[in-house]
Amino acid sequence: MTRTRRCVLAYSGGLDTSVSIRWLQEELGYEVVTCTADIGEAKDVDEVTERALRNGAAAAYAVDARRLFVEEFCFPTLAASAMYEGAYPLATALARPLIAKILVDVARDEGAEAVAHGCTGKGNDQVRFDVATAALAPDLQVVAPVRDWEMGRPQEIDYAREHGIEIPVTQESPYSVDANIWGRSIEAGPLEDPWREPPAEVYAWTADPATAPGDGGLLSLTFEHGVPVALDGERLAGDLLVTRLNALAGAHGVGRIDHLENRLVGIKSREIYEAPAAIVLHAAHTALETLTLGRDVFQLKRQLADDWARLVYDGLWFGQLRSALAAFVAVTQEPVSGEVRVRLRRGTVAVVGRRAPGSLYREELATYDRRQDVFDHSAARGFIELFGLPLRTQARIQGALEDTGPLPLERRVKRR
Ligand code: ARG
Repeated sequence: MTRTRRCVLAYSGGLDTSVSIRWLQEELGYEVVTCTADIGEAKDVDEVTERALRNGAAAAYAVDARRLFVEEFCFPTLAASAMYEGAYPLATALARPLIAKILVDVARDEGAEAVAHGCTGKGNDQVRFDVATAALAPDLQVVAPVRDWEMGRPQEIDYAREHGIEIPVTQESPYSVDANIWGRSIEAGPLEDPWREPPAEVYAWTADPATAPGDGGLLSLTFEHGVPVALDGERLAGDLLVTRLNALAGAHGVGRIDHLENRLVGIKSREIYEAPAAIVLHAAHTALETLTLGRDVFQLKRQLADDWARLVYDGLWFGQLRSALAAFVAVTQEPVSGEVRVRLRRGTVAVVGRRAPGSLYREELATYDRRQDVFDHSAARGFIELFGLPLRTQARIQGALEDTGPLPLERRVKRR
């Protein structure tokens, strides 16, 4: 008796993964179980699982992962202030390790020996799936049919016709789009010319900033220990808060990003992102940190944010560096509770107010009003004396390093 070899396929319902079901059966002899995770890309997951069964899956799982995705992947990354290359809030990159974990869980329950995904061989996503799976379940095989087969889109369509595979009805688009609750990404087609302004049609979540309401919108965000918990005073679970903020900020044209990005696989690619909620939350969260963190922690944290972003981008979510950085970030977020007011207007987000019980800002220290000032001006003298002592000593003994003579500037002087 030969044992059934089973493979769990991440199934989106699109052409690639629909063809993959059959290909995994025919070419590799797997029984295929599909798994479709809802992470807020606004597709009908029931419809997708039905399609999986019609296309030959032995079983089709559906998982609603929206809340977990926001609270366990997006919000920690927000707390870390991590944006890849300072620009990309990492929506796709954050979803991959979660989907990998969901696949591994199903693979264990189904006694599968492999997991599969529909990534191509050119992108970052294949790396993220493969590496996340390796970290969680080193014994599982990872199969990537689209990377391995030699078919282009027309051949895939032929293959689907020949095998009676239901092809999803989507109109032919020049773009490659990926979306989840934390953001949407658009590549390819006319965007491949980095000089060309993105055509209006690439945007789906954000209004054109030029025609967005000119009077703007004011809203408030409440954070507890670095986690967003309320919008305009209303407490909301993470996924609901992000969904609502995407709509609010998107209507003001906030959240458009045009980035020429360094992929892990060595390619530069031009990416358009829409991430209204992420952009607003990052601005608000950082504003609260400026109020509640000491200078040394705030500045070191900014450096480590790049490391967090890079490791997420590179698919290393389940590695030790992320755990170690998460421990650091968690300590820093202790005092990051409070409220931030932001003004959204025509594609911009401006922080216009911030307050926190643990605010380190003291008006009586900062004020220029002499009557309220408690800052000890005489102490500044002694402080600067000592702070500048090493430079003064060195200049006296070794000569000035920087003073290379008078600047080559024409001077004018008037005397009386
Ligand atoms: N460049 C982004 C990233 O690497 C977005 C990738 C979008 N993925 C896709 N399959 N279209 O995270």
